[in-house]
Amino acid sequence: MNRIINEAIERLNDSQVIGIPTETVYGLAGLIESENALNKIFTTKERPFFDPLIVHVKDQLMAQQYTKFWPPIAEVLADAFWPGPLTIVIEKNDQINPLITAGLSQVGLRVPNHPLTLELLEKINKPFAAPSANKFKKTSPTNAAHVRESFPELFILDGGPSEIGIESTVVGINPASSDYEVHIFRPGMISKTMIEKVIKEQGLNNKVSIKESPVSPGAMEHHYMPTIPVIVLNNNAEFAQNKEQACQQLALKPSELYELILPPIPELAARSLYSDLRSISKTKAKGILIKISKQHLEDGWSGILNRILKARSYPR
Ligand code: TXA
Ligand code: MG
Repeated sequence: MNRIINEAIERLNDSQVIGIPTETVYGLAGLIESENALNKIFTTKERPFFDPLIVHVKDQLMAQQYTKFWPPIAEVLADAFWPGPLTIVIEKNDQINPLITAGLSQVGLRVPNHPLTLELLEKINKPFAAPSANKFKKTSPTNAAHVRESFPELFILDGGPSEIGIESTVVGINPASSDYEVHIFRPGMISKTMIEKVIKEQGLNNKVSIKESPVSPGAMEHHYMPTIPVIVLNNNAEFAQNKEQACQQLALKPSELYELILPPIPELAARSLYSDLRSISKTKAKGILIKISKQHLEDGWSGILNRILKARSYPR
């Protein structure tokens, strides 16, 4: 393992981009000190420059080297959820290249919770930017084979399948509000309730609100889309009729649809969602049907529901 980590370090230090495992999804990493590497991330991914990158750091101390201030709310969230699937968006200092933030005054930071990537961060001792390792708007990769499908030439640090399976929760700490309100820009497996609970337990009273950021293309429609259409329907009395209508509009036979049945527990549903979307796309099926029930509207499902709705082609 040492050898492979050393190769990853050499490549990063050489301004290359590499595939890295994280507990959420695989990332396409490049050192933030190298403008060359940052440019390569955007061109490799075919990602527009207006979409900001997340900076991966080894710990809170490293995060603080790149921010203007680190208020109690940041400390509380980082203490509770790092390493883990939470990205904290906060005022940056001039150590952060504007390419990373798409010119915005805030930077997204997170400590990923994967042993190989933590070891890599520890040894290289420098942050790297890493978007999900997929082409822009496509389904994110949750194992090394997925990354290889999009980028056959890429050096990938293979750390097995991602345990969480969907991207981190992104929260912004609003500098304009005196009490540093927390905005959830992108939902994930760390839910609003979990964040509120920690804030309360630590004796803070910051408000938490869901606010998909207009500057957050993860929040754009038509994202995470697999190669065949995804139909999302409510599991209600009109289901059969709605399914028929969907088939008609997409010119599909009901027999050409593959129904993706979501596991009953959100942790399991998140873990398998992207890899199921990918593998069903490779079968004879011409469309993927996902049924949404009442339970899927609960807080613990919000990240999963968000990705399902972004992946859908119908209804639109
Ligand atoms: O779990 C994850 O977050 C994965 C792994 C690899 O860490 N990364 C990931 O990166 O999902 P990416 O680039 O696919 O999504 C980053 C998203 C942006 O599209 C945006 O929505 C939000 O994070 N973001 C990053 N920096 C931001 C900023 N300064 N202001 C607002 N939103 C920001
Ligand atoms: Mg992405």
